Parts: sequence; structure tokens; C-alpha cells
Amino acid sequence: MDTLDYILKKYDITLTENQYIVPIGWSRWRAMPRLFRELGFTKGAEIGVFKGSFTLYLTLFNPKLHLFGIDSWTKYDGYNDNITAELDENTFTEAQTRVSGRNVTLIKATSMEAVKQFEDESLDFVFIDANHDTEHVSEDIAAWSKKVRKGGLVCGHDYVKSARFPFGVIEAVDTWCDTNKIKPLFIWKDRCPSWMYVKM
Ligand SMILES: C[S@@+](CC[C@H](N)C(=O)[O-])C[C@H]1O[C@@H](n2cnc3c(N)ncnc32)[C@H](O)[C@@H]1O
Repeated sequence: MDTLDYILKKYDITLTENQYIVPIGWSRWRAMPRLFRELGFTKGAEIGVFKGSFTLYLTLFNPKLHLFGIDSWTKYDGYNDNITAELDENTFTEAQTRVSGRNVTLIKATSMEAVKQFEDESLDFVFIDANHDTEHVSEDIAAWSKKVRKGGLVCGHDYVKSARFPFGVIEAVDTWCDTNKIKPLFIWKDRCPSWMYVKM
């Protein structure tokens, strides 16, 4: 069964004509890694690891996965996220400790440096969760979606815009999907929802 059919069947979704946003009534934490396991995904990348919490979940619930965790683990001009203040030398160490013993390769580099290390269409999925401004998310989607094979999943976090989370993710994702005629866009149920589409 192809990936889109599998997702529609699993979550009992019937698409209406031209439907763009399709809610998935589950939180990403356990359900997304389980979906990846059921789809037989064994190679993926998380862009933006921070302390490794989701990195751990992705591998705990999908033990055959080899996950590449990419993060610069440094403050830089133009990066003012709600977690930026917490970034220091200890953050990388904390991530390393959290995922130790798991099949995870941590790469300490910027997203745009790290993406050069991957062949096109070599990954089953990417999960984009680094700098959340529109420009960076747009750049990440354009670069990392090339690295996902057909039938794989392009995903990311924080499809939200509010006073507390003034992110540019919605704008970047919607523009990308509109320009490239991508639909449906699955949205996971969390306070900061994750987004996901099947690479065709
Ligand atoms: C929101 S946190 C990631 C959270 C993680 N995905 C999770 O779910 O637990 C964002 C991370 O992206 C990293 N980051 C920000 N801009 C980046 C860039 N241009 N390249 C690589 N990493 C970046 C930050 O260092 C930070 O650790």
C-alpha cells in the first residue's frame, strides 16, 4: 500500500475534493514514530534537536530507525526562538547523553551545512524544527525535501502563529505547498502542531 493510502486508512480519513488541511487527531510524540515504524522507515533526519527529546521518541518507538540529528547548538544573530536563551555548551552534551545507546548520529552543524552531506532521495523522512522564521523554514523545506525519497514524508513542527509563538512556519509551509501543488497537508494535534505531507 502506498504511503498516502496507508495514512488515510490508518486514521480513517476520507478526503474531500481539493482538501488541503487534514487533521490527524493524535499528538506527534508517540503516534508519529509509530507511524514511521509501520511504514518501514529506517533512515530519517531531525533538523533541530535541542536537548534530544523528540530524537529519543523517534528512535524509542521505531528501533530499526537510523536517525540523523542536525543542530548547530549555538546562538546566532537572527535566531530568537523561545528556547534560544537556554542554548549553551551543556545543551549538546545533554542531547548526547539522552540519545546515547540509540541509533542516532548527531551532526553539529547548521542545517544548510549539514544538508550537503546527504544524497538526494536518500531519506524516508525529515522532521524540520530548527529556526522558525519564514525565511529559514522556507530554506529548510526547499533543501531537505529533496533528500526525501518518493513515498517518504516531509514533516516539521510548529505550524502555529500566536503572540506566544510568533513563528513563520504556517506562511513558509503554505507558500511551499501552494507553489508546488502539494496536498493534503496533515496537521497533528498538539498545542504546537506538527505538519506533514507525502513526497510524490
Ligand atoms: C525547537 S528546538 C528543537 C526541538 C526538538 N526538535 C524537539 O522536538 O525536542 C530548535 C533547535 O534548532 C536549532 N537551530 C536553530 N537554527 C538552526 C540552524 N540554522 N541550523 C541548525 N540548527 C538550528 C537550535 O539550536 C535548537 O536546538
